[in-house]
Amino acid sequence: MTVTPASAATTTATATATTAAPASLAQVVRRHGARADALIEVLHQVQELHGYLPPEALREVATLMRLPLSRVYGVASFYHLFRLEPPTAHRCAVCLGTACFVRGGAQLARRLESRLGVELDDPAGNGTWAVQHVSCLGACGQAPVVVVDGVLVTKLPVDQPEELEERLDAAGLPRPATA
Ligand code: FES
Repeated sequence: MTVTPASAATTTATATATTAAPASLAQVVRRHGARADALIEVLHQVQELHGYLPPEALREVATLMRLPLSRVYGVASFYHLFRLEPPTAHRCAVCLGTACFVRGGAQLARRLESRLGVELDDPAGNGTWAVQHVSCLGACGQAPVVVVDGVLVTKLPVDQPEELEERLDAAGLPRPATA
């Protein structure tokens, strides 16, 4: 089963995307008539263009929509669905919703942090991998679950370390270089 968490549903940013962005960005703004009440939707579509919201794009949006940059930046930084840094090549989401939490979701999150050398919810991760937490993936009956690059991995045996490591290997999560 393939799952794409909302906050992970963006494409990888590239230098070419940044270069090509202004014309497309202008089209996005024009499509909404530069209405101030469409700012969230505009930012959402601009993020789809870039994979995140780079500073140049926020400045462009502010100029085209005739809004203070502080307002555009304020909205972009307030909502969790907006990302202000480029996404990593690989992403993992660990569910900390109630069902997953009581079945070891927090221990699983710590294991992922240790294994990948990242901090939970740090979008920069280790430069290649980032781990974010999510509240529920709708697979509570198969808790605890993670999503690795869009693929749902269920019933992870948190209390069985060796089997857990094998399941994480099979999911494509690299082990620490020293392991
Ligand atoms: S609480 Fe984790 S899938 Fe629902």
